[in-house]
Amino acid sequence: MPMKLPFFKSKKEEIPIQTEELTNVPEHVAIIMDGNGRWAKQKGLPRIAGHKAGMDVVKDTVETAVKHNIKILTLFAFSTENWKRPKHEVEYLLRLPKEFLHIYLPDLIKNNVRIETIGDFDSLPGYTKEAVQYAKEKTKDNDGLLLNFALNYGSRKEILRAIKSMMEDMDNEEFSLEQVDEKLLSKYLYTHNVSDPDLLIRTSGEQRLSNFLLWQLAYTEFWFTDVLWPDFTEEVFVKALMDYQNRSRRYGGI
Ligand code: FPP
Repeated sequence: MPMKLPFFKSKKEEIPIQTEELTNVPEHVAIIMDGNGRWAKQKGLPRIAGHKAGMDVVKDTVETAVKHNIKILTLFAFSTENWKRPKHEVEYLLRLPKEFLHIYLPDLIKNNVRIETIGDFDSLPGYTKEAVQYAKEKTKDNDGLLLNFALNYGSRKEILRAIKSMMEDMDNEEFSLEQVDEKLLSKYLYTHNVSDPDLLIRTSGEQRLSNFLLWQLAYTEFWFTDVLWPDFTEEVFVKALMDYQNRSRRYGGI
């Protein structure tokens, strides 16, 4: 039985950032949490130690998102390409959601967080599905932060799946070809019930999308940092939020 850790009581020093300073907080933040392996390597630890540290940073990041009134936080936790990793690493990564929820679910519930996922949920192992399904059920009526885990998620597969499903419905005469537009396609994506991300953060210095939310990020602001995910702190998160304040979003207009 792992020790229950305090969730919203950080032992770290409070950062002197006033929430009032952030006048334009992104409603939806998506994060590519990258650099766990390199973090572990730098410390002479096995890669999975980086993932474990990364899991604890997820807790801190949720705390910061709640504090700054972000409405949706989408975290890329396991991609459809991550199956290519060594078997023991894949299994460790897929056990992390259960471990995370075992420790933090009571605090997430207390703090009105709702848990959801995007991705091919059915193909996940039973131990992942059961833990996450239980958490979804337990938090379904919460109306605070939506914590959206991208689990077994790949954007191209998501788009293909949407197109196939849309074609089936068109065959069944639910709509005509003329009615197919961006809005309709969006309804077939895993993200049909959430707004597109306003801000995308990727850690570890890599500047690519890695098959993450390709459709949904069309007008999203990007923010990259060299910080490795296990070193991602409230201070770094707030830096991204402060930077977002100065972005002028024109959506192709002037
Ligand atoms: C990429 O770093 C990270 C992942 C593939 C996994 C991300 C998962 C977590 C941060 C923990 C998830 C926690 C929960 C609660 C589900 P990498 O391993 O590719 O790092 P590297 O590029 O340095 O090798």
